[in-house]
Amino acid sequence: MAFSTTTDEVMAGIDLTGRVAVVTGATTGLGLETARALAAGGAEVVICGRTAKKCEAAAAAISETVGTAKLSSAVFDLADLPSVRAGAASIVQAHPAIHLLINNAGVMFTPEGRTAQGFETQFGTNHLGHFVLTNHLLGALRGGAPSRVVNLSSAGHHSGQIRWDDLHFESEPYDKFEAYGQSKTANILFSVELDRRLAGSGVRANAVHPGMIVTDLARHMTTDDLAELQRRAAARAASGAGPGLPEFKSVQQGAATSVWAAVSAEMADVGGVYCADAEIAEAADYATDADYAARLWALSEQLVDESFPG
Ligand SMILES: NC(=O)c1ccc[n+]([C@@H]2O[C@H](COP(=O)([O-])OP(=O)(O)OC[C@H]3O[C@@H](n4cnc5c(N)ncnc54)[C@H](OP(=O)(O)O)[C@@H]3O)[C@@H](O)[C@H]2O)c1
Repeated sequence: MAFSTTTDEVMAGIDLTGRVAVVTGATTGLGLETARALAAGGAEVVICGRTAKKCEAAAAAISETVGTAKLSSAVFDLADLPSVRAGAASIVQAHPAIHLLINNAGVMFTPEGRTAQGFETQFGTNHLGHFVLTNHLLGALRGGAPSRVVNLSSAGHHSGQIRWDDLHFESEPYDKFEAYGQSKTANILFSVELDRRLAGSGVRANAVHPGMIVTDLARHMTTDDLAELQRRAAARAASGAGPGLPEFKSVQQGAATSVWAAVSAEMADVGGVYCADAEIAEAADYATDADYAARLWALSEQLVDESFPG
C-alpha cells in the first residue's frame, strides 16, 4: 500500500456481506467515498449526516454506482450532544451489532465559536461529539466483534497539542490552526485510550491521516489562511518539528487509508496506532502518549458529564 492507493484497490477481494458499517460525515467528501467503497464491498452502511436531505442525496449518489447498496441513515449533529445521544440510540435500535465505525465527520479552521454545550467548535465537534457517539455505540460494537473503530485525524495534529488549561481558548486569543490541531490530536489520543480500554474485547481502534484532498473541508478557509498554513508547515518542517504540506490526493486515494484501517487483514489485530498512506505511520509523541490519552478520556467524561468505562 502506498500514497496513491485507492479505496477500490484496498477493497479488492474483501467481502463485507453481513457486516454493518456506520460512517459519520458520509454526506460528502471522504465520508461519502468511504461509505460507497464499504457498500460496494457488501456492507450495510449507515450514512450519518446533519440533515435527512443530505443523507438521502448521499444514498442516491451511492446507489447510482452501487446498485446492490444496502443503505440507511442516521441524522444528528455532532456539535450538540443530546442530538448525538439520540442518533446513537436510533442506530443501536436498528443495528444491535455494528462491525465498523468510521468517525469521519469534521470541521476545520472554523471562525471562533461554540457548540451547543459551549465547547470550542472544532474540539467539540471533531472530538467530543465522536467521543460520546462511540461510547454510546460500544455495546453494539462489542456485539459485532471482531469490530473496528477508525477515527479520522490529520497531519494537522502537528499544529496543536491538547491545551489542558485552556481547551476552549478562554485565556488566550483563538487560533483556528491550533484549535484544529488540538482536535486532531484528541482524535489520536482517543484511539489510543479506547483501544487500551477495549483490550481483549475484539474491538480495535485506530486513527488515520487521509492525506491532503480537495473537499468541502476547506469551506472556512480564506486565501490568507492557506498562505498562513503553508508558512507554518514550512517552518515546522525546517525546524524538524513535523512534516511540511504533502502533495494532493484524489478523494479515492484520501479515503483509502480509512477503508484500509477498517477492512485490511493487516489491521485485524492492531490497535492504538496512527495510519497514513494505507500503512502504519508515526504521529507526534504528544498525540500517542498513554498518560495524555488517559487524561483526555477523564477530561472528556467530565466535559460531557457522562462516565464511560470503555
Ligand atoms: N480533506 C483533507 O485534506 C483532510 C486532511 C486531513 C484530515 N481530514 C479529515 O477527514 C475528515 C473528512 O473530511 P473531508 O475532507 O471529507 O471534509 P468534508 O468534505 O467537509 O466532509 C465533512 C463531513 O462532516 C460533516 N460534519 C461537519 N460538521 C458536522 C456536525 N456538526 N455534525 C455532523 N456532521 C458534521 C459534514 O456534513 P455537512 O455537509 O452537513 O457539513 C460532512 O459530511 C475530517 O475529519 C477531516 O478533519 C481531511
